[in-house]
Amino acid sequence: MKQPVDNSTLERQLSWRYATKRFNPAKKIAARDWDTLEQSLVAAPSSFGLEPWRFITIADAGLRKQLQAASWNQPQVVEASHLVVLAAKTSMDEAYVSAFIKRVAETRSIPESALDGYRGMITGFVGSLSAPGAVESWCTNQTYLALGMLLTSAAVLGIDACPLEGIDRSAYNELLGLPAKGYSAKVAVALGYRADDDALASMPKVRFSRDEVFERR
Ligand SMILES: Cc1cc2nc3c(=O)[nH]c(=O)nc-3n(C[C@H](O)[C@H](O)[C@H](O)COP(=O)(O)O)c2cc1C
Repeated sequence: MKQPVDNSTLERQLSWRYATKRFNPAKKIAARDWDTLEQSLVAAPSSFGLEPWRFITIADAGLRKQLQAASWNQPQVVEASHLVVLAAKTSMDEAYVSAFIKRVAETRSIPESALDGYRGMITGFVGSLSAPGAVESWCTNQTYLALGMLLTSAAVLGIDACPLEGIDRSAYNELLGLPAKGYSAKVAVALGYRADDDALASMPKVRFSRDEVFERR
């Protein structure tokens, strides 16, 4: 197979991206591009494949304004073309695992009984997460992987993004009605196109050197 994206393109896009502070509110992400970005979240890997997350897209301007107030008033929340909130599952019950096993069986045309061992592995592992908050924390780790997929995909498509952890998660949960559905907001992502006057766009990227972050044995 021909190399799908050449090295220099990937390197260029990874250094092109930055956590965008000011978006151009007039520039919207095209539907086809947004479709691909949503798919990048769906395609994210997760432990056992359980996809323990929910992605909430917010187009409503009034709700965006309310969320901005719960986000240190960061302008990206209202100025960006798109806003998505990544939420993690707060618990994992037998019914959820069963629904997942059913999906695997259907998708791969295999009997559910052939997955009994896998089901046992999953329920055994989930059962071992008995400390308070342990399941949510495990699900949260995976939600951040989805964040990485989204940010990288946006960069490759030449779409700007800003991950936002500077949010009041409790306020987000309340505004989005997440706890009743078994989810908790973790991180928001604003996506769109940088404003011409975002001073950060032209600043050099700050990173430790490769030797400082790699240990080679
Ligand atoms: C999980 C996470 C949360 C972040 N939260 C915010 C935020 O609330 N507001 C913001 O402006 N930038 C936020 N950032 C952006 C970081 O400050 C930024 O990624 C970092 O300084 C490196 O710069 P770069 O992404 O521009 O290369 C966040 C980044 C990550 C990964």
